[in-house]
Amino acid sequence: MLDDLPHVRQLWRERWGGEFLVAHGVLYHPDALEGFVALDGEKRLGLITYSFSDCGCEIVSIDSLCENMGIGTALVDKVIKAARQKKCKRVFLTTTNDNLRALGFYQKRGFELALLRRNAVNESRKIKPNLPLIGRHGIPLRDEIELELLLNTIHAADPHPSLRKGEGAGNVP
Ligand SMILES: CC(C)(COP(=O)(O)OP(=O)(O)OC[C@H]1O[C@@H](n2cnc3c(N)ncnc32)[C@H](O)[C@@H]1OP(=O)(O)O)[C@@H](O)C(=O)NCCC(=O)NCCS
Repeated sequence: MLDDLPHVRQLWRERWGGEFLVAHGVLYHPDALEGFVALDGEKRLGLITYSFSDCGCEIVSIDSLCENMGIGTALVDKVIKAARQKKCKRVFLTTTNDNLRALGFYQKRGFELALLRRNAVNESRKIKPNLPLIGRHGIPLRDEIELELLLNTIHAADPHPSLRKGEGAGNVP
């Protein structure tokens, strides 16, 4: 669980318009999440929150307070490492159709578009009415897009799939 909940709540209020987030119909409160804070001494430079479920490891929020310095990348790397340690099959997240920066950021780091939920933000507005109608870059805020990074769950100690006892080599090179 996150150590500094008042800070997380304040950051979410300032940057996400409230102390909770909504994505794919699920409401997220910080006290139920894990997270990492990027620090420079006492100064907070960024925050990532995430949670584990049967679906994998979900990045719930990421905020870099000092962009283009590698903070966002470092925070995502920490979550990927945590997911690997838990032997998760994938890391995933939801962003919205207007968040062009996030779409670029994640795809450049190996994440792939996995799902489009058309008009999902309309449903989220029923739970969080202050979600704006117009999002970043003047784009109507409307759809949710899920991105995922599939993790190679085969570890050095595991035999290559083609070498497992009783299994055919198949098409594995
Ligand atoms: C998306 C977000 C988390 C990225 O965080 P960030 O700290 O800017 O990320 P990084 O600095 O690691 O990477 C951004 C760019 O800076 C560049 N960069 C990293 N370190 C750098 C350095 N020392 N000097 C110059 N450029 C650098 C990276 O190459 C990267 O460019 P690329 O994506 O073209 O490869 C941030 O923009 C953000 O908080 N956005 C608002 C909240 C948000 O939308 N969250 C996502 C919701 S789904």
